[in-house]
Amino acid sequence: RILILDFGSQVTQLIARRVRESGVYCEVWPFTADAARIQAFAPRGVILSGGPASVTEAGSPRAPEVLFGMGVPLLGICYGQQTMCHQLGGSVESSDHQEYGRAYVDVRHPCALFEGVWAVGAREQVWMSHGDHVTALPDGFRIVATSEGAPFAVVADDARHFYGIQFHPEVVHTPHGAQLLRNFTHGVCGCEGDWTMAAFRAEAIERIRAQVGSGRVICGLSGGVDSSVAAVLIHEAIGDQLTCIYVDHGVMRGGESEQVVATFRDRFNIKLVHRDASELFLGQLAGVTDPELKRKTIGRLFIEVFEEEQAKCGGADFLAQGTLYPDVIESVSATGGPSVTIKSHHNVGGLPENMRMQLVEPLRDLFKDEVRALGRELGMPEEIVGRHPFPGPGLAIRIPGEVTRERVQILQKADAIYLEEIRSAGLYDAIWQAFAVLLPVKTVGVMGDGRTYESVCALRAVTSTDGMTADVYPFTMEFLTRVAGRIVNEVRGINRVTYDITSKPPGTIEWE
Ligand code: XMP
Repeated sequence: RILILDFGSQVTQLIARRVRESGVYCEVWPFTADAARIQAFAPRGVILSGGPASVTEAGSPRAPEVLFGMGVPLLGICYGQQTMCHQLGGSVESSDHQEYGRAYVDVRHPCALFEGVWAVGAREQVWMSHGDHVTALPDGFRIVATSEGAPFAVVADDARHFYGIQFHPEVVHTPHGAQLLRNFTHGVCGCEGDWTMAAFRAEAIERIRAQVGSGRVICGLSGGVDSSVAAVLIHEAIGDQLTCIYVDHGVMRGGESEQVVATFRDRFNIKLVHRDASELFLGQLAGVTDPELKRKTIGRLFIEVFEEEQAKCGGADFLAQGTLYPDVIESVSATGGPSVTIKSHHNVGGLPENMRMQLVEPLRDLFKDEVRALGRELGMPEEIVGRHPFPGPGLAIRIPGEVTRERVQILQKADAIYLEEIRSAGLYDAIWQAFAVLLPVKTVGVMGDGRTYESVCALRAVTSTDGMTADVYPFTMEFLTRVAGRIVNEVRGINRVTYDITSKPPGTIEWE
């Protein structure tokens, strides 16, 4: 396995993605990780990420000294290269010639990193993003590739297996970057690339059995990808020691509750408690129009109902959660400051710590698309494994203004038509999230010979890689008018449809 030490680059997670895609397990730790922990992890190689600091500033981050004496290959990327060279006796300077974006490097000498990818004499495209650069090499290093702005674009100390790259091989704008990284992990470090989902599944099952023993596990199922895959995996490990609780808060998509029951109870034979709490939730949501109050109300009730149900089944020793790796990575914040709360992002299934149960989190080493791959490996249906993210507070935050059962039903129908059209046009997988929003605005329309005065429905569809930023999905006008026509004709209560063309930022994905 490979250890990645993070110096705060925006793209450190991409290094981890590339390494894992090549079948090698890796973890991302902050650069402050202590020596004993690093030695205990016993990595086959260590990658030092980029970062926003300047090596020339006093107090800027340094790589743990232990790395240089462990006899383990090192790869420094951007800031990682600079601090490595600085710490080993070279020098780094800030320069006026900053390089951001596409650049070209000239391959000067053979190097283990270039094996089978870059030939000596070639000029190759890369992605640069740096102000500082190395100006003198430590003993033992030689230059193997250069660029106009970075004469030390790639440097190597073959004896110690230390390598430094000024550009970013982890981003797609460096076309052969993934192969350069693979040459490091496989060629230099000798990793075999046998970390597959089948292997992960077998190991995870052993780990769950070892942790749980003969204890009982309870799992809050939301119908989303993460809790669903966690439940199926845990069930495979411990069978009926697992009970799932599905709390239907009445603001799910149409038909979703039936689908959850059919999938988990009927198909996977998992013990499932299905509690229809829609009366309770909709009752308490009556009159609530503030988005944050909606989230808080739903969050509070969810915990109440979940606790009630789990007491009814006699309690449990463990609580299963679908925590993912991005939630676990101890991130190095570039600014150090707290960020502004835009939305509280209540996650239904996010239960309070005082539930006094140990956590079982079998997905905490995985990225989202690895969870999807694991779900497929477990034989889960594509409708669940490939589905778009759905917010914990559900349709309540897609109905600005008051949420009533009637409005939920109107929205469910419009949303179902929209998604059906997206699926039949083969666009579902190209979109990060698509959904309808029911606006608290009435407009005048005409149908047949009559006047209508009904609600407006807004459609939203975005592409994104992590939900942090998003672009509007460019449907054809023909597609949009077809969906609008169907919604207005088939859903009573809606007489006008609009398409939201706001990216994030400045918009957010959800309307509330
Ligand atoms: P925004 O609207 O903040 O959404 O751009 C980013 C992603 O987060 C989801 N989202 C939520 N998920 N509870 C959740 O579990 C919430 O309260 C919540 N609010 C937004 C949203 O669907 C998108 O995927």
